[in-house]
Amino acid sequence: MSDIRALVAGNWKMNGTTASLPEAEAVMTRLSAGDFNPNADVMICPPATLLRAMSDRLQGSPVATGGEDCHANASGAHTGDISAEMLKDAGASAVIVGHSERRADHGETDAMVLEKARAAHRAGLTAIVCIGETEAQRRAGETLDIVTTQIRGSIAAGCTGVNTIIAYEPVWAIGSGLTPTTADVAEVHGAIRQELDAHLGADAASGMRILYGGSVKPDNARELMSVENVNGALVGGASLKAEDFLGIIAAYC
Ligand code: PGA
Repeated sequence: MSDIRALVAGNWKMNGTTASLPEAEAVMTRLSAGDFNPNADVMICPPATLLRAMSDRLQGSPVATGGEDCHANASGAHTGDISAEMLKDAGASAVIVGHSERRADHGETDAMVLEKARAAHRAGLTAIVCIGETEAQRRAGETLDIVTTQIRGSIAAGCTGVNTIIAYEPVWAIGSGLTPTTADVAEVHGAIRQELDAHLGADAASGMRILYGGSVKPDNARELMSVENVNGALVGGASLKAEDFLGIIAAYC
């Protein structure tokens, strides 16, 4: 494993109500017990409606919280949208931007994702920028071209290893139970690392975490997390239950 400290982040998506908060508290309790010390940071990104309550309950614990999306502007006439500043105010330390579900459901382009990443930085949040190819693009052999284009379009000067995290999530692996082979993950993560160095300069890109996401489960986490240039995981479905999420975090013990 590399010397970049890993991050295991949960993405609850549009799941969870107040009744789900004990799952987050169970993660906190386990991590605070003293006999379970993974070599990784841990974060949960709940729906915005739960962010304040979850942040309060996890305050001072090893579990950080983040948002799932933000608007590019700090405030204004954008009914239903939430700004990075509001997420920060609700206790978030990071925000996911450019998730493939946002790109697909809301037509988000690389340029829009870049604006959201900039908004995150403006608010003092870490931007977790998601990239990844569709099944058709993978079959057409376009994976490396796609992730390269997405990096060039949605990451720019000002993004550093301190304020930005990349999440490589093959769209076809999300929620499907399918995962790429470890050789494929190694190839893509290696290419992302190279492209970040070329695009941002090695100094700025230094230490930038590259998470893998897409059907990470307790039984495949150790194998996926041991791949070179994989610096953690972005976990959807398996982050909703403390036991599963802890089983993934345990890959770093
Ligand atoms: P999954 O989702 O773990 O349920 O595949 C990952 C994600 O979309 O971030």
